[in-house]
Amino acid sequence: MRVLVLNGPNLGRLGTREPEIYGRTTHADLVVLCERTAAELGVEVEVRQTDHEGEMLAWLHEAADRRLPVVLNAAAWTHYSVAVRDACAMLTAPLVEVHISNVHQREEFRHHSLISAVASGVIVGLGVTGYALALRWLAETVSE
Ligand code: DQA
Repeated sequence: MRVLVLNGPNLGRLGTREPEIYGRTTHADLVVLCERTAAELGVEVEVRQTDHEGEMLAWLHEAADRRLPVVLNAAAWTHYSVAVRDACAMLTAPLVEVHISNVHQREEFRHHSLISAVASGVIVGLGVTGYALALRWLAETVSE
């Protein structure tokens, strides 16, 4: 099984971006974490990050066409992008929505996700470990 891990805007700045909220793990460290977890689980993973919504849409279309499961942290787009949600709705394999911080403990505008209604499940507030847990669930759930 191959899984796409897709990260949205500002997540490339993990490690230095508001570390009290997002921790000190860099995006490069996150890639290593996902790759190590995937290797343990016997799955293939590709981790990508973009600050450009059109690029994220193209990756989601690719995942739909290739029937790939997705772990998505849509970052700020989570809260307002109908386009990202519509692309998620087209996915044909499971989608796990991940947020590093507990968005429900934070500002009101972060409490609502446009993605959750079209996701298989949501992992919130468990730090970067949420990505590893999402990969584990996909490895257990998705056959082929
Ligand atoms: C985030 C939470 C979002 O509200 C925020 O805009 C992000 C990161 C998280 O992983 O906690 O950029 O998705």
